[in-house]
Amino acid sequence: MTGPDDAPPTRPTAVVVLAAGSGTRMRSKLMKVLHPVCGRTMVGHVLTAALHLEPQHLVAVVGHGRDQVGPHVLDQVPGALLAVQETQQGTGHAVRVAVDALREAAGTTEGVVVVMAADTPLLEGETLTRLVADHVAHPGSERPRALTVLTAEVGDPFGYGRVLREGDGSVSEIVEERDASPEQAAVREISSGIFVFDGAFLADALSRITNDNAKGEYYLTDVVAIARRDGRAVGAHRIDDVMQTEGANDRAQLARLGTELNRRILDRWMRAGVTVVDPGSTWVDADVVLEPDVTLLPGVQLLGATAVGADAVVGPDCTLKDVEVGVGARVVRTHAELAVVGAGASVGPFSYLRPGTEIGAGGKVGGFVETKNARIGEGAKVPHLSYVGDAEIGEGANVGAGTVVANYDGVQKHRTRIGRYARTAANNTFVAPVEVGDGAATGAGAVVRSDVPPGALAVSAGPQRDILGWTLRRRAGTSMARAAEAAGAAVPADVAEQEASGTPHTGPGGFAPDASPGSHSE
Ligand code: UD1
Ligand code: CA
Repeated sequence: MTGPDDAPPTRPTAVVVLAAGSGTRMRSKLMKVLHPVCGRTMVGHVLTAALHLEPQHLVAVVGHGRDQVGPHVLDQVPGALLAVQETQQGTGHAVRVAVDALREAAGTTEGVVVVMAADTPLLEGETLTRLVADHVAHPGSERPRALTVLTAEVGDPFGYGRVLREGDGSVSEIVEERDASPEQAAVREISSGIFVFDGAFLADALSRITNDNAKGEYYLTDVVAIARRDGRAVGAHRIDDVMQTEGANDRAQLARLGTELNRRILDRWMRAGVTVVDPGSTWVDADVVLEPDVTLLPGVQLLGATAVGADAVVGPDCTLKDVEVGVGARVVRTHAELAVVGAGASVGPFSYLRPGTEIGAGGKVGGFVETKNARIGEGAKVPHLSYVGDAEIGEGANVGAGTVVANYDGVQKHRTRIGRYARTAANNTFVAPVEVGDGAATGAGAVVRSDVPPGALAVSAGPQRDILGWTLRRRAGTSMARAAEAAGAAVPADVAEQEASGTPHTGPGGFAPDASPGSHSE
C-alpha cells in the first residue's frame, strides 16, 4: 500500500519473534504457536506480518518445544536465525538472547529492531509498517527515539501491561498486572507487547533490567522506564483495531480469533467481488485465492492453497483442500483434496475427489463417485456410483453407472486407460492394468481383464468357477490366509501335487489358478 505522502519504508535491522513460552493454557501436546488458524499456524501469521517489513534479519526465540517450533519457523522463513532460550526467565531475557544472536550473526544491533510475540494471528503487516513509520518519523531531540510501543485501549485490561503517561501525554512506564497499584490497574490503555526499538539502546538497556518484581522475571517492559531515566524519548502508537494485538492463550480464545479472522477474510473477498451467501457457515483460509463473481453457497470450507476461478459456484456443503476450481465450474456437496476441476466442469453432489484427480474442461464427476490419481479428459463423464483410481479417461468418454476400476491386486497398483469417446456400460469392472481403445464399448456387467481394441465391443460372461485353495497358495502368511484356513480352506490335493512336481496347473475353463482376483479397489 503506497500513498502520496508515504516516505520510503524503513527496513528494520531485525524483527524478533518471541516463541519460547510453553503455552500451558492450551493443554495440548502441540506447541501453542503451532496451532492452526485459518490455514496457517499462529506463528505463521505473525511471520507473514513480520516479513511485510522486509527486515534484514528475522530472529525467532525458541525454547519450549523448540524441536517442533524451530523447524516450522525455518520452513516458513528459510533464512531465519533461531535463538535458543534454554530457560524462560521472562520477555526481557528472551529479547536479550535474540539480541546476542543478532550481534553474533550481523555484527551489530544498530538500526531499527522490532519485537513481538508469536501468538497474535490477526496482526497485519500494514500495522507494523505504520508503527515503524511512526517511530522513525519522530526522532528524539538529540538521539533517536528509544522505542515506540503499539498500544490499544481495551474494555478489560486485566493481564496486560498498563501504559502510564505523564501530564503531557508522554509515556513514562509500562507496569505489569501483578505489580500495578489499584490506580495503575484502572488504566485501560495496554501494551500490545509489540515494540520498535533503537537497537543500540535496546542492547544496552537489556543489560540493565533486573528480575526484582512480583514474578521474579526479566520484563522487557522495564526498558521503558530505563529510557526515561536516560532522558530518551518514548513513543506510543495507538490502534483502534484492538483484536490485531490479541493473543490466543487458550482454545476458546483461539476459536474466537479464528472466527474473527475468517470474517475479515470473507469481508475482503466480498469487497473484491465474491458472493458469499452465508458468511457464518463459510470458511476460507488465509492463502485461498478467489476470482470475481465466484459464488460460495452455505456450508463451504475452502482450505489450504485452494483457488477458484471466475463465475464458478461452490456449495452448498463442500470441503475443498488445495483444490483448483476452473472458471465457471460447478461443485456441489463435495469433499476434495489436491484435485483440479477444469473450466465449466461439474462435480457432485456427493463426490469424493482424492489427490491426483484432474477433471478436464466440461467434464463431469457425479453422485457417489470416488476418484484418485485419475485424469478425466475434456468433456468426459463419470456420472454415477463409481470408483476410478489410477486411471485415465479419454476426452468425451462416458463411464457407465456402477463402474469399479480394480487398480489394486492386493500387492501393487496398476493403471487403467479408457480411450477417447469410448462408452463403457453399467456395472463394469476394469481389472488393471487394462486399456479400452478409442471409440470402443463394453457390455453391461462386463469384467474387463484384457485390452479392448479401438472400436470393439467387449462382452464378458460365464459360469462362476471357484479356484480352491487360491488364498493359501498365493497369499500365504496373510490375515486373509489365516481366516481362510480357520474356516477350513485347503489346497486341493491334485494342485499341491502338481505344484510339487512343477507342472503348471490349469483349472476347468482354461484359467490359470493364480490369475489375479481383480476384485480390489483402493
Ligand atoms: C506480555 C507483556 C505485557 C503485554 C502482553 C501483551 C511483559 C513482561 N509483559 O505479557 O506487558 O501487555 O505481553 O500480550 O513483557 N516468552 C519467551 N520467553 C520468556 C517469556 C515469554 O519467549 O521467557 C514469549 C512467550 O512465548 C510469548 C511472549 O513472550 O510469545 C509473551 O509472553 P507472555 O508470558 O505471554 O507475556 P504476558 O504475560 O502475556
Ligand atoms: Ca500473552
